[in-house]
Amino acid sequence: MAATIAVTKETRFGETRIAATPETVKKLIALGYAVTVEAGAGLSASIPDADFEAAGASLAKTADQALTNADIVLKVRGPSPAEMKALKSGAIVIALMNAYNDADMLGAMAAKGVTGFAMEFVPRITRAQVMDALSSQANLAGYRAVIEGAEAYGRVLPMMMTAAGTVAAAKVFIMGVGVAGLQAIATARRLGAVVTATDVRPATKEQVESLGAKFLAVEDEEFKNAQTAGGYAKEMSAEYQAKQAALVSTHIAKQDIVITTALIPGRPAPKLVSAEQVASMKPGSILVDLAIEQGGNVVGAELDKTVVTNNGAKILGLSNLPGRIAADASALYARNLFAFVGLLGLSDGVVKPDLEDEILKAAALTHAGAIVHPAFKPQ
Ligand code: NAI
Repeated sequence: MAATIAVTKETRFGETRIAATPETVKKLIALGYAVTVEAGAGLSASIPDADFEAAGASLAKTADQALTNADIVLKVRGPSPAEMKALKSGAIVIALMNAYNDADMLGAMAAKGVTGFAMEFVPRITRAQVMDALSSQANLAGYRAVIEGAEAYGRVLPMMMTAAGTVAAAKVFIMGVGVAGLQAIATARRLGAVVTATDVRPATKEQVESLGAKFLAVEDEEFKNAQTAGGYAKEMSAEYQAKQAALVSTHIAKQDIVITTALIPGRPAPKLVSAEQVASMKPGSILVDLAIEQGGNVVGAELDKTVVTNNGAKILGLSNLPGRIAADASALYARNLFAFVGLLGLSDGVVKPDLEDEILKAAALTHAGAIVHPAFKPQ
């Protein structure tokens, strides 16, 4: 019998993405798997059941039915308690696990004997680029942040010269220039805005400039060493943050749309925009806080709320921006997962992952009844 992969409807509130598409189902079947999809699982990403069936998947009426016999479960978010119950011991679950914020789920996966792989921990090495779900989703989030900001903004982004007069281009400021920030710069530029951007990693300066935006940062000794070997930002000193705040203050007061994307892996998001800075902005200005799920970069931002400040600025605290473009987000994420599944070592209908493989080792959270990831292993 072929090893079975199950794909179920996401149960987390507001999660519209799905972990497989007809394209990846077809490819998984070609690898030798049988694929079961819960009926209706793709609807929120505009994929009808019939398309999954045409790709060769069998449909399960309920999530439980799909999960009970699954050897591998593909998900967007980590398994819920109810899903965990339905899984068989020894099953492999692959998802964006949000591991730093969900200790209960980690414990439950270990207790159940599930092998849990976190897509957010896939190392950013060349071989794993095709599996880089953080990048595929952050790229779309950066795009969507600009669209949301533009939609909330009561003016236009490009300069327009009309018979009735000239409309000035909007000034857009991107704070944090990782994958999301770079796409936000590119999108705002395409819409005709005048774009500036800041980051603490020196490597971003050239990237910002190559996209036609202007770079703004405190370029001191600490800045020169702010990038870790893994390519991420370090948490900056209080001194640096004060200098950064002073530099940003005069700038931010003149901006129309500010998009913040700054994150530090495993830490709360750094606070980059103070209440005073928000208060200095013009009426009608927009802040889009992409880091809201990690606590937010903007003081006063609230999860899934639009906060209107006394000075008439709006702070958008939208979670799950990729979920607002679920069809494309699912298509890219499903391809990331397909590539990951290719590493799992299927032979004669049996899945035998080699946990010494560099990528699998980095992504493994739980295995054989224990938490195995060094960041969460009991000391
Ligand atoms: P992220 O989502 O962890 O953080 C977003 C951005 O916030 C980063 O650019 C970071 O430097 C910045 N940031 C953190 N603290 C800040 C502060 N106090 N002020 C201003 N900005 C701050 O980053 P992401 O998007 O995951 O990218 C991290 C790195 O990984 C980048 O160097 C990126 O180019 C690299 N990368 C490499 C890949 C590969 O080689 N396969 C694939 C994707 C990304």
